[in-house]
Amino acid sequence: MTAPARTRTSAELIEAEEPVLAHNYHPLPVVVSGAEGTWVEDVEGRRYLDMLAGYSALNFGHRHPALIEAAHRQLDRLTLTSRAFHNDKLAGFAERLAALTGQDMVLPMNTGAEAVESGIKVARKWAYEVKGVPADRATIVVAADNFHGRTTTIVSFSTDETARSGFGPFTPGFKVVPYNDLAALEAAVDETTAAVLIEPIQGEAGVIIPDDGYLAGVRELTRRAGCLFVADEIQSGLGRTGRTLAVEHEGVVPDVLLLGKALGGGIVPVSAVVGSRDVLGVLRPGEHGSTFGGNPLAAAVGTAVVELLETGEFQRRAEELGAVLGEGLTELVGKGVVGFRARGLWAGVDVDPAIGTGREISERLMREGVLAKDTHGSTIRLAPPLTITEDELRSALGSLEKALAG
Ligand SMILES: Cc1ncc(COP(=O)(O)O)c(C=O)c1O
Repeated sequence: MTAPARTRTSAELIEAEEPVLAHNYHPLPVVVSGAEGTWVEDVEGRRYLDMLAGYSALNFGHRHPALIEAAHRQLDRLTLTSRAFHNDKLAGFAERLAALTGQDMVLPMNTGAEAVESGIKVARKWAYEVKGVPADRATIVVAADNFHGRTTTIVSFSTDETARSGFGPFTPGFKVVPYNDLAALEAAVDETTAAVLIEPIQGEAGVIIPDDGYLAGVRELTRRAGCLFVADEIQSGLGRTGRTLAVEHEGVVPDVLLLGKALGGGIVPVSAVVGSRDVLGVLRPGEHGSTFGGNPLAAAVGTAVVELLETGEFQRRAEELGAVLGEGLTELVGKGVVGFRARGLWAGVDVDPAIGTGREISERLMREGVLAKDTHGSTIRLAPPLTITEDELRSALGSLEKALAG
């Protein structure tokens, strides 16, 4: 009889990754082996409050019972057909998602980057077929400091050299303007513009919230210029900011929404391009697709996600607890925090570089039993599951205070 394999420790597992995994990430030194709700547990049984929530992919917490039940039910019936055939879950998912977002049609994909790529293709096709832009001349205007994913086309218009360097040649057809600058946007838009593609709040850049009126201004400008407004709500959407969509804070309805992350309930990758019939109607059979896009397991989980959002409970929690988060962070200003930006349960916290880098503070926080992640040197991003309780949130803020104090 062979002895059962000894469970490896966190340190051993981290060391084991080194030679066999590409080094495209620099994770915090914690090895998670289980999770429930707002909490994760490491290999040694230590518990941590998850204040990152998979970059908003876990808006409903880990293993939300309704989502797990929907996944189990579907796993027992049908998981994949490919779009060569219809499946019995896709129509309901598209109907519910379109209704939730106030749009007409859905193009289901898997990852966020795929939704962005698909949105770019749809916008270009619309520009040629509907707007009448001469062949191969369409441009898309994007914002500096954007983050839309990691594919070759998407990094082509990134302004982050680390994301681009060594990956050229790049895809042409993009114009970059400063974020939150309507005059610059106006100057960049012309008769070749297919779309303006922006994040309503720039997540990776450090939760950068544009001035009031910017999103409404983008809507007005794109309408006047006869180009599409494509809003990347992959991180900002689906409850995070206290609304179903971040654009709702300005009462704005874009032509195209890009959704992902939380749409898969933290269980399966599910993304979607959601838009008006005028725009998504330009796609015909054979022009775009994905083997896994719209698979029945994804559609079942995605439908359960939409059902949770239909109740409004998570948006309400994000708004109410967002006020607690904002008050708590205000109290930390001057105690290691030099400034912060927050909307709903989402905050970018700038720490005083004199007390440590964002990474060092994140490691200290980890030792206090809270998981969060730094971005751009001295910013810590907080995005807990929207299921977090007020006590848990206050406790996380207490841990942050301790981590800042060293
Ligand atoms: C706004 C935004 N768009 C697109 C993406 C890419 O999503 P994915 O990592 O699923 O490809 C992200 C990921 O962080 C994002 O924040």
